[in-house]
Amino acid sequence: MVLPRIDILLEQTRLEKAMSKENFFDDIGPGYEGVAEFYELFSDNTDLPFYLEYAQRCGSPILDIAAGTGRVTRYLAQQGFHVTALESSPSMLQHSKYLVSRLTPEVRSRIELVSGNMMNFSLDRKYSLIIIPNSFGHAMTTGEQLSTLQSIHKHLSDDGLFILDLFPGAVMNEHAKFQDNPTRMQDGRTVIREGEFHVDFVKQILRLDLRYVVFDKQGIEENEVMVTSGASVIFNREADLLIHFSGFEVEQELGGFDSSPYTIESGRRIFILRKRKMLEADEGV
Ligand SMILES: C[S@@+](CC[C@H](N)C(=O)[O-])C[C@H]1O[C@@H](n2cnc3c(N)ncnc32)[C@H](O)[C@@H]1O
Repeated sequence: MVLPRIDILLEQTRLEKAMSKENFFDDIGPGYEGVAEFYELFSDNTDLPFYLEYAQRCGSPILDIAAGTGRVTRYLAQQGFHVTALESSPSMLQHSKYLVSRLTPEVRSRIELVSGNMMNFSLDRKYSLIIIPNSFGHAMTTGEQLSTLQSIHKHLSDDGLFILDLFPGAVMNEHAKFQDNPTRMQDGRTVIREGEFHVDFVKQILRLDLRYVVFDKQGIEENEVMVTSGASVIFNREADLLIHFSGFEVEQELGGFDSSPYTIESGRRIFILRKRKMLEADEGV
């Protein structure tokens, strides 16, 4: 029999205590400070060919919103595109700078890293393609979602495309736990990540508690980092309204990065959007 480690048990108790509080789902921030160096170890990169296909279709410049450590930005810049990466977390941005510094001067020259908030940013150019991989849910309220979409609308060129990547609320579980496989870092350390989701379907908020445990080259536990992040739970008709009221129209709706059509069982709802041509009767709608 494998006995659970005592510190994991203690942590579960802490989480259970937190869950019993009424404010378990309140004031949860994005929660990325202190984990930037581990972020890409657990990333799913199956979206990269998909974003490349749209980069080839739309061309530069591309705006990668909530770019994190620059996972998608670096890939597109390596394929020859000019990319601006907008990110609000100081630690994600810092790590992104480090990863960009390791690229060739030519690729580096195609990347611009910008500190900013997706809900109210202002850049001095328009973009042919805007993407927001895995991140729109961090706009936690309808007001924040609308202001994010309006900021994006302002920065999209008239014939440009905006790819909105959503996790549909209807197929989310109320509670789930997971543990990723131990992953080795380039410096020889190993990292384990375990997580627990809770969803409040009334408040439409998802809370994710993540715990990273880092082991040194000898396999001795070095440290652990815990972060809690929140995301909004967005249902389909709500997403349709957000898109409409932000002045976009749907060119295509997909259910995955393999470009399969969206069905009610899809775990992803990916919209290819363009600016809606405004008729006078549309003003203010
Ligand atoms: C799940 S990560 C995705 C990172 C990257 N897009 C990727 O797919 O690898 C979400 C990112 O959104 C960023 N973020 C959250 N709220 C933000 C905001 N208001 N403005 C800009 N970035 C934000 C977080 O700091 C984090 O880096």
